[in-house]
Amino acid sequence: MNSVNTNLADYDLFDQGLPLESFAEIRKQPGLYWIDEEDGSGFWAVTRHKDIQAVSRDAETFSSAVGFTHMEDIDAEAMEYRRSIIETDPPKHMAIRKMLAPFFTPRKVKECEAMIREVVNKHLDAFVAAGEGDWLKLVAKPIPIEVLCRLIGLPEEDIPFIIELTDHLVIGITVGDLPADAYGNTTELRLLPFNSPAAHALFEYGEKIRADRRANPREDLATILATGKLETGAELNDLDYRNNFQALVFAGNETTRTAMSHLALQWSLNPAEFAKVAADPGLIPSAIDEVLRVASPVIYMRRTATKDTELAGTQIKKGDKIITWFAAGNHDEEAFDDPHSFRADRKASNHEAFGGGGIHTCLGAFLARLELRILLDEMVKRNFSIETTGEPVYIKSNFVNGIDAMPMRIKD
Ligand code: HEM
Repeated sequence: MNSVNTNLADYDLFDQGLPLESFAEIRKQPGLYWIDEEDGSGFWAVTRHKDIQAVSRDAETFSSAVGFTHMEDIDAEAMEYRRSIIETDPPKHMAIRKMLAPFFTPRKVKECEAMIREVVNKHLDAFVAAGEGDWLKLVAKPIPIEVLCRLIGLPEEDIPFIIELTDHLVIGITVGDLPADAYGNTTELRLLPFNSPAAHALFEYGEKIRADRRANPREDLATILATGKLETGAELNDLDYRNNFQALVFAGNETTRTAMSHLALQWSLNPAEFAKVAADPGLIPSAIDEVLRVASPVIYMRRTATKDTELAGTQIKKGDKIITWFAAGNHDEEAFDDPHSFRADRKASNHEAFGGGGIHTCLGAFLARLELRILLDEMVKRNFSIETTGEPVYIKSNFVNGIDAMPMRIKD
């Protein structure tokens, strides 16, 4: 092993974007690669595209429920308090997924196209009027949350508050920025998603929406969450409701925001590739999958082995922590030729930005792709080109490849 830092548990490794060199070095090692953690635990790092697929597609051997999906271990009580669809195994997983899925089918998502275009144009107009500014503040943050609020059925005037809360949740993934009693929180932080009092505020907000939809049902996702029935005939219980409400708001918002920031960053880094897209808008779908590949907004997910097993020639013991590094799989030279270059016409739809396949594959993938395609389409139609005017400020996290701020301008 040479001197490349391969400690993927070290947040410092991620503060300038993805540690692609570390991923490549680990992929070169035989089998899976063990990484020790400071607290005495450790995990198998899965960094090859095909090994990630093998883990993601075998939910029976690799559980999302047993140890949750984050690197950090949390205690059993906290798991019960914090469990959403993401940290649930079959059969309950499928019951919740079936309840939500009708809102995320390609057909249903397509019905949102005009609404998404309107939201995208509103914020692009603001950016064009300004000529330059923080891409996150003006474009990447407001679009996904506004689309999501409209889809779930949340009032537009609540959008700034929801952006504020989800910003805190992102920070909660890294260090935590709020006093424990912020937003009137009295729950122990370990029992809250991302250990953040902002989750308490989001729960309270969700309860308000639930009460409203029980009294005044509508044709929206909020009503399904509040009143929909699982296969057992039961409604979601209080914990399931609040955790899945939180998961939807967070999963649909932060990730898409990250992809939209990387879209602008890649444009700035590879203007010739985006000139190709402008010349042939038929390349928009492949360019967006390429953005998703290089962006890898969710860097990893964790699973826990439910039995002794073997993968890539490595013996895994029941209870071992397994971390699938989607961002590494997305840069695996076995799966993608010349993986470090951005090619707008690459056929990269087999990327692992939405997971490695299997039952937990991103529920919002069609929606996210459509939002991104519309954004790129509207940028191309306006016939402008953009560039960064300073370094992007990365979120210090090994879980999300987020950008907190990025100054951009429209080129003359
Ligand atoms: C570019 C945007 C997005 C990216 C990169 C992304 C990525 C992911 C990833 C990696 C997973 C976990 C897959 C696994 O463990 O196998 C996931 C799950 C999920 N995503 Fe997304 N996501 C995005 C947008 C969205 C949107 C717009 C929504 C809509 C609300 C959404 C809702 C969900 C849900 C509910 C799950 C859990 C699915 C399950 O456990 O069955 N995501 N997403």
